Amino acid sequence: MDLLLRGIGELATPLGQGARGGAAQGEILTLRNAYVLVRDGRIAKVGEGTPPPFSGEVLDCEGRLVTPGLVDPHTHAVFAGKRVQEFLARAWGERYTGGGILTTVSATRSASEEELVRLAKPRLMAMLAQGVTTVEIKSGYGLTLQDELKMLRAIRRLGEELPLTLVPTFLGAHAFPPELPREKYIQILVEEMIPKVAASGLAKFCDVFCDRGFYTVEEARRILVAARNFGLGIKIHADELSQAGGAELAGELSAVSAEHLLHVSAAGIRALARAGTVAVLLPGTAFVLDEPYPPARKLIEAGVPVALGTDFNPGSCPLASLPFVLSLAVLKLKMSPEEVLTAATLNAAAALGLAQELGTLEPGKRADLVVWKAETFAEIPYWMGQNLVWAVLKGGQAVVAPKA
Ligand code: NIG
Ligand code: FE
Repeated sequence: MDLLLRGIGELATPLGQGARGGAAQGEILTLRNAYVLVRDGRIAKVGEGTPPPFSGEVLDCEGRLVTPGLVDPHTHAVFAGKRVQEFLARAWGERYTGGGILTTVSATRSASEEELVRLAKPRLMAMLAQGVTTVEIKSGYGLTLQDELKMLRAIRRLGEELPLTLVPTFLGAHAFPPELPREKYIQILVEEMIPKVAASGLAKFCDVFCDRGFYTVEEARRILVAARNFGLGIKIHADELSQAGGAELAGELSAVSAEHLLHVSAAGIRALARAGTVAVLLPGTAFVLDEPYPPARKLIEAGVPVALGTDFNPGSCPLASLPFVLSLAVLKLKMSPEEVLTAATLNAAAALGLAQELGTLEPGKRADLVVWKAETFAEIPYWMGQNLVWAVLKGGQAVVAPKA
């Protein structure tokens, strides 16, 4: 059960058990000629120089870089169907309004749980191959109790069958089902779906798409307060398409995270800072939609902890590569490599309520780590669009085997 990683050229990790904002987001521990001792799936010791005498299995990293496993805190990775025509129409000038969500709803309603699992597996394995060991997945392409539960069960099955930690979020308030009046659906969400989803134990968080053309602040508040009363954590898709007050609401409700924030207001930034809410930024979506990038520097200067995710979905962001998103964060959000590493590990774990368990290489944390074909962590965003992963360990087990 014991494993020693030795010959680590550079070990780079944030430190701590909670989200790091402001200047602390840019503080990374780097060790040279380092080792990591793993015991029973957890990190037992991290150090520099000669490792202690050891008789278990040894992995020689031959001078490579080691970081914590990456955490993707925002995806819509379970769905059926494709939206290639919508992608092309947008490339040729059409604006994204979210209307295409219903195309995916109809394909997902027609798919069985088994089909959703079969479709999502290779997507998630491709993420793992790029160094991602924990992924949040939102429901929200069902929009009926039965179809939302089907999506959440598919997420649970994927978590059982794949060597990844999957965190399920109920996003019943993603769009409005075409067959019901708006007010009626919200009533069903609050009175029936949220209590049943909470009782099923299939979701950890509840999220609402609070934006122009979708849920208003008042509607989102009503849904999220109900979710909180049933013990679900709270997330908000905030200010993605317009300045709609989602960040202010996230602060008011002390949501664990506010996500997207392309159009966040100054008051919204202050509200997030006051509440300690994590800003989950998804620059892949701004890239695909050709929209303005979220104001990462303003958020960091205000002390808001910033996390980064892909938003992988078949519509607004058919991009599943978190390392590519880290490149965008450096180039377009003007984040430093240090800030980016914290954003995709510790702060992303905090956005999932898992910062005590994951996100850093410190004794006691789960041994989720990546060995990269690189000398320093700044190379992860630098070598754009290449897969630099050499090996991935999940709970101390090699789930991506060392390769040339
Ligand atoms: O995060 N904003 C809402 N949901 C997704 C888009 C989903 C879709 O287009 O299918 C997003 O961008
Ligand atoms: Fe999203």
